[in-house]
Amino acid sequence: EIPSLKASYENDFLIGSALNGRQINEEDSVQNALIAREFNSYTAENIMKSMHIHPAKDTFNFEMPDKLFALAEKNGAKVHGHTLIWHSQLSSFFYGIKDSTEMVSAMTDHINTIAGRYAGKLDSWDVVNEAVEGDGSLRKSVFLNVLGEDYLPLSFKLAAAADPQADLYYNDYSMTGEAKRKGVIEMVKKIQESGAKIDGIGMQGHWHLDSPSLEEIETSILEYAALGVKVAITELDIDVLPNPRNVEGADISQRAEIDAQNNPYVNGLPDSINVALAKRYEDLFKLFLKHSDKISRVTLWGVNDGDSWKNNFPARGRTNYCLLFDRNNQPKKAYESVMALK
Ligand code: XIL
Repeated sequence: EIPSLKASYENDFLIGSALNGRQINEEDSVQNALIAREFNSYTAENIMKSMHIHPAKDTFNFEMPDKLFALAEKNGAKVHGHTLIWHSQLSSFFYGIKDSTEMVSAMTDHINTIAGRYAGKLDSWDVVNEAVEGDGSLRKSVFLNVLGEDYLPLSFKLAAAADPQADLYYNDYSMTGEAKRKGVIEMVKKIQESGAKIDGIGMQGHWHLDSPSLEEIETSILEYAALGVKVAITELDIDVLPNPRNVEGADISQRAEIDAQNNPYVNGLPDSINVALAKRYEDLFKLFLKHSDKISRVTLWGVNDGDSWKNNFPARGRTNYCLLFDRNNQPKKAYESVMALK
């Protein structure tokens, strides 16, 4: 067998990647060969979000998601669904809903139609994404506004009814912060107490070279797992750039374009940082291996550095180096350090 991430970690956890539209359309044969070789779980980076898959009340776009499932079937990979209920990239018709009966019926239709279509083929769903704020309170979304916190167990009950076989996850970022962690744990306990099925918690790994600490990540994995659910490391990418400096009057999302200091590695990554990135990935995967009995999946948020959303977030037009493959699809030192652990 050709050495690969998925083969190396076969007995530990799934190794996933987010796929963009180009990759789902198989437009780049070099990259698609790499995807087939390295990853055994695919997450749509965007095309299964409500604004794309369900852009208007009675309109569903299944062409791209169907292609994703066909690609996964061809490559023997699993599909992780991202995401059913999320305040962002939300189909605009949801914002017009003011009444609880109408909201329950819109959520029922949304979840039944989408999760029902892929039932039996799909491995797991992010049922709810990013419902908790940094201070542990529930995020003020249209779902919370109209239904109160009942929208949370409702989402999980609807997903379980539409696809009884899928593992159902709650997914969020900054899951290592203490206040947020407490809020998430309290929320998950309420979902469990309601009798709804929740199988896992996804910790988005939009992390940095030096934060969060390994201790914070480990504590979080253990505390989430103590709820009796699986833990997935989702959306892993390591931002190597300094936080964009803000200046008075500047729109932070436009900063890179107006200040080259926010884009220090435009001509290439210094070797010292490439090495630090490899060490960071090594430390993380060591930790994941230590807790592989609790971890179901580790998904990278993109295939190569050029694909990464972190080139445009939190400031636009930057040259970032977050992932395991470089812009020419060559394995980086980080890839080698992750492979060397096995
Ligand atoms: C990001 C995508 O990577 C971008 O292409 C898109 O423009 C915005 O969304 N949390 C999530 C993901 O759950 O869906 C987000 O993906 C990154 C943050």
